[in-house]
Amino acid sequence: MLDKTKQGWWKKATAYQIYPKSFQDTTGKGTGDLQGIISRLDYLEKLGIDVIWLSPVCASPQVDNGYDISDYRAIDPMYGTLDDMKELIAKAKERGIGIMLDLVLNHSSDQHNWFKEALKSRDNPYHDYYVWREGTPESYPNDMKSVFGGPAWTYVPHLGQYYFHQFAPQQPDLHWDNPTLRRELYDMILWWMDLGVEGFRLDVIDQIAKEPDLHITGNGPKLHSFLRELSAETFQKGCLVTVGEAWGATPERAQLYSAPDGSELSMVFQFEHMCLDLEPGKSKWEIRPLPLVELKKNFEKWQHALHNCGFGSLFLNNHDLPRILSRWGDPQNYPAESAKLLAIMLHGMEGMPYIYQGEELGMTNIRLPIEAYKDLEILNMYKERKAAGIPEEQIMESIYQRGRDNARTPMQWDSSPQAGFTTGTPWLPVNPNYTEINAENRLADPNSVFYTYATLIRLRKQYEVFVKGDFTLLEKDHPHLFVYQRHYQHENLLVVCNFGGTATEWSLPPYWHGATCLVQNYQDTPVNGLRPWEARIYFKNEVN
Ligand code: GLC
Repeated sequence: MLDKTKQGWWKKATAYQIYPKSFQDTTGKGTGDLQGIISRLDYLEKLGIDVIWLSPVCASPQVDNGYDISDYRAIDPMYGTLDDMKELIAKAKERGIGIMLDLVLNHSSDQHNWFKEALKSRDNPYHDYYVWREGTPESYPNDMKSVFGGPAWTYVPHLGQYYFHQFAPQQPDLHWDNPTLRRELYDMILWWMDLGVEGFRLDVIDQIAKEPDLHITGNGPKLHSFLRELSAETFQKGCLVTVGEAWGATPERAQLYSAPDGSELSMVFQFEHMCLDLEPGKSKWEIRPLPLVELKKNFEKWQHALHNCGFGSLFLNNHDLPRILSRWGDPQNYPAESAKLLAIMLHGMEGMPYIYQGEELGMTNIRLPIEAYKDLEILNMYKERKAAGIPEEQIMESIYQRGRDNARTPMQWDSSPQAGFTTGTPWLPVNPNYTEINAENRLADPNSVFYTYATLIRLRKQYEVFVKGDFTLLEKDHPHLFVYQRHYQHENLLVVCNFGGTATEWSLPPYWHGATCLVQNYQDTPVNGLRPWEARIYFKNEVN
């Protein structure tokens, strides 16, 4: 177990993201709940993770599956009660697992009491908790668009004003310039810290300092001063791990966010690597084949940028992204090998790895009829594209490739009906491949992808080079190989990945002869040549 009273403990930790709605149902309602998570703590302990990033469980009308909070200090009845939450925190802690709460500080739900008050009149004390502009029904304050489609402004006739929302109209943006609002948020965070949570994931935190008049949403001029105040008033009073979602972070900005003095956050999620297989300058729905050479150089850039002057996160999946095995791996021909390669490639690097539920099983994307989808982003996009005359097949293909519901299908526990997720009807269909791909099968097979993840989590705690080693990219322009070396004092690592379904010539450089193979995705380790999707990590203990 990690000693979580020491600042920076999280540098050796691995997190596991739970999307609670799809994790484990104990009531038969078809949606997961906190007791369900408690019932699966043994499984998570076996995997070896240190932190659970828990997607939002606070009270919410669930327009955006909890990313629209109506009461920050209450648990949504769908998930249970505050007592269940306290039980989860305590029982996880017994196993060395901390709860990282997902906090949405950029916006609230329109059902939050603050917004209900704000709507009452322009001089209501809560009115200034939100972002308002004058206007008439015919003229919007400007042409800014919501991320989920449609205008970013909604008109309130009795006030004669528009409010600003970067996401759905039911997610009004909070007005961070207002110090009373900020104080209210800090008090709420301190309240959660008192309850024993060990960290926070801060939703779209780079958007809080918006300046809509200047068309600025992300990275507003006051962003870092807001973050420093937030951190000083809350996180720095404990020994927490914090991660901010920051789509537009540059390396320079990430250094500020994760400055080693702890003045802002522990780290951010930046998404550059997750955008390389998208058509540049187009929407998230337009994809292109993954350019491996660009991916390698991108990782190299970030590994160098944050080494010794910040800290990064390592991830390939989350609840907003399609499943990585379907995206970059080969679930048809090499499901186990490619799933393990992706894990090995990522977990050999510096940073805090995040595993998204089911990733450790090799879960894949799903194809559903449009009526079965639930995500508002998918449904809005479908409507907009239909109206624009785009052919049905093309729209559906984009959804199969990129839709967020790919990641949100229920966790596949075993081969019983509904994959052991629920005894009722699941809120989103279970992927029909659950009879093969499920936790019970994976646990029974000592060579399964589950154990590759478990090994990688353990290695990070065992060898300092995983945490502190520098990073040297080799074979930079090779179209199939992703090879890198790491070095810290007398510890040396070589990570070798043959990305793709063709065997590739390669031989272990002489320096590494006799090195220990710490993890691999085939049973044996010949010195020459790499088989399809083959990946290994070598270790050598020697001063060089
Ligand atoms: C973040 C969340 C996403 C949500 C959005 C609005 O990007 O990860 O799920 O829809 O913020 O809160």
